[in-house]
Amino acid sequence: MNTGIWIAVYPLALLGHMALWIALFNRLHATNTPVLLRKVSYLLVGLALMNLPLLLVVFSGKNDWRTAFWPESFGQLPIGLLIYIPICLVFAVVTVAVWLFRKRIDHQNPRALLSSSSEDFDFGSVSRVKNDSAPSLFKRIPGNQIYRCRIEKRELNLPGLHHDLQGISIAHLSDTHFNGRVCRDYFQKVIDQVNRLSADIVVLTGDIIDAEECWEWIQSVLARLRAPRGIYYVLGNHDRKIKDTDRLREALGAIGFQCVADRWRTIPIGESRIHLAGNELPWFGKAIDQVRSLPDNANDDDLCVLLTHSPDQWSWARRLGFQLTLAGHTHGGQIRLPVVGPIISPSRHGVKYASGIFERDGQVMIVSRGISGEEPIRLNCPPEVGLITLGGLFENAPQ
Ligand SMILES: [Fe+2]
Repeated sequence: MNTGIWIAVYPLALLGHMALWIALFNRLHATNTPVLLRKVSYLLVGLALMNLPLLLVVFSGKNDWRTAFWPESFGQLPIGLLIYIPICLVFAVVTVAVWLFRKRIDHQNPRALLSSSSEDFDFGSVSRVKNDSAPSLFKRIPGNQIYRCRIEKRELNLPGLHHDLQGISIAHLSDTHFNGRVCRDYFQKVIDQVNRLSADIVVLTGDIIDAEECWEWIQSVLARLRAPRGIYYVLGNHDRKIKDTDRLREALGAIGFQCVADRWRTIPIGESRIHLAGNELPWFGKAIDQVRSLPDNANDDDLCVLLTHSPDQWSWARRLGFQLTLAGHTHGGQIRLPVVGPIISPSRHGVKYASGIFERDGQVMIVSRGISGEEPIRLNCPPEVGLITLGGLFENAPQ
């Protein structure tokens, strides 16, 4: 068979092979996977990604890679390759098609977004920040943005809200991942910037603390947060690393943070209200048992907001009628390749909801890139603090 055909087939198969294993990884990490299985999956996916030739040799059952991979016809391929290569080819074509299609539908300018702007803060390079304990490998990576925080300011038009909600602002923090690899000074500076925004409400959508050694940071970092109408939170999958999450909730409660997991909290604002609820699925609780519908006393012109760690809960939120959903977890992918964008995004939807603003039938979800991460590496994907301001069309607006 013509060598040129193989030269075309194998790169495409390689693309499909990588897409297949990364897709598997993303879906696996969107579920409540036991820690041991998660670690094993990291290893398996890593090995599979880096060892395609080895994998193919195993599949081929032959020692001579030339006769295994370069036969005269497809029919002469060993049975393992005869099955695996077409799967990879199909996956490559589907991946490219989905990527091209989603580029058009997901990166739209949602009608709900009236205006947006951003403000960048560079708190120093990883190698120069004092007290940093990031592994030296990460310090050496050029362009690592782990200490460059971007405030994403969005003015939202959620039509039909009571005019008393006009101008109300919500600061959205997510994925602080206190684990000591990113230094405490950075988080304190971020919190100072959040306080400077003077948001009415602050929300934190999970993955707050990864390591017991950073327990004191709840006091020295998070307790500095200020918001006149309250600070609300849900936990994320990494918070399970703190063995006793009840103790974590108690500590957060002691500094004035209010948990909204599986319950409603109502914030009266003038003659209107904001109703906040939380969903910590699939890692904690059973939101569908506790929060079955919007609150009975909610008026049509009130705002109902869901805090959730995983953006995968948006379909649940839309069914219940939440106008606004705030999520984190996917970190924007942390590494965004030129043209391709993010690759790793632990969601049932893969990279679809890696970060950004999404709208369907007037219901909006904002997925934060998060303030930090388990690993101190970010390329083309700076940490994010969100600032949402309610603007646009209001019910009974005064003339
Ligand atoms: Fe996270």
